Amino acid sequence: MIKKAAEYVKSIAGDGFEIGIICGSGLGELCDKIENPVYIDYKDITGFPVSTAPGHVGRFVAGILNGKKLIAMQGRIHYYEGYSLNEVVMPIRVMKLLGVNSLIVTNAAGGINEDYMVGDIMLICDHINFTGVNCLIGKNDLTFGPRFPDMTYAYAPEYIEIADKIADEMNIKLQHGIYMGLSGPSYETPAEIHAFRSLGADAVGMSTVQEVIAANHCGMKVLGFSNIANKAAGMTKERLSEEEVIIAGQKVASTLQKLIFRIVGEI
Ligand code: HPA
Repeated sequence: MIKKAAEYVKSIAGDGFEIGIICGSGLGELCDKIENPVYIDYKDITGFPVSTAPGHVGRFVAGILNGKKLIAMQGRIHYYEGYSLNEVVMPIRVMKLLGVNSLIVTNAAGGINEDYMVGDIMLICDHINFTGVNCLIGKNDLTFGPRFPDMTYAYAPEYIEIADKIADEMNIKLQHGIYMGLSGPSYETPAEIHAFRSLGADAVGMSTVQEVIAANHCGMKVLGFSNIANKAAGMTKERLSEEEVIIAGQKVASTLQKLIFRIVGEI
């Protein structure tokens, strides 16, 4: 299935892509600067999962960004949509077969760290997989990677350094933190947020961790950003809503787009 999907994408958009980007909720605009874009709808790829979450278009956008051949996912696949974890990480493996060795992941997240403001961009320094599952459970395909992949540098330190340097040059403030990934789709309770803070989480969301595990498994280097779309549950009197997450995404998308454009040129 993975090979067939990669062959199909290759027949339309070619291969030899160096970089992959996953655009999170409300962040699809990150694809707008891609030159000579070729669009491949997930629904046209046999066996490929289709995004059903709001704010996720559901297609690959292949082209050139800042001189680099790149393929972006305009919309990702979440476990809470009812897909198997193999389906959730299938796009990562397809991108690997298309040449991708560097992956930039983005997401919308709730800020747990008291110092974070809505609209902050958090550079993901590490994650806590709190989904209770792992996409690598099952027979291991050694052509992708080892049975027990190391996760010590799940987010490549050299990419974090590059992102910091460029953000500094561009006067963009980056928070640095730990992303906690949950299955969702219900948002967290205030008691859960309290507990997660004491576990060391700075932000919480419903994506990313499985993709980053699959990417590390197949030897990709990863860089990750969270858009802090809201303060996590119980930190204000307000209830959480899907709409505010999308709106917050649209607000930071252009800053993140400019930052990623420059980073792509240097990784
Ligand atoms: N919790 C989980 N996922 C999220 C949140 C949140 O507060 N905000 C955006 N995605």
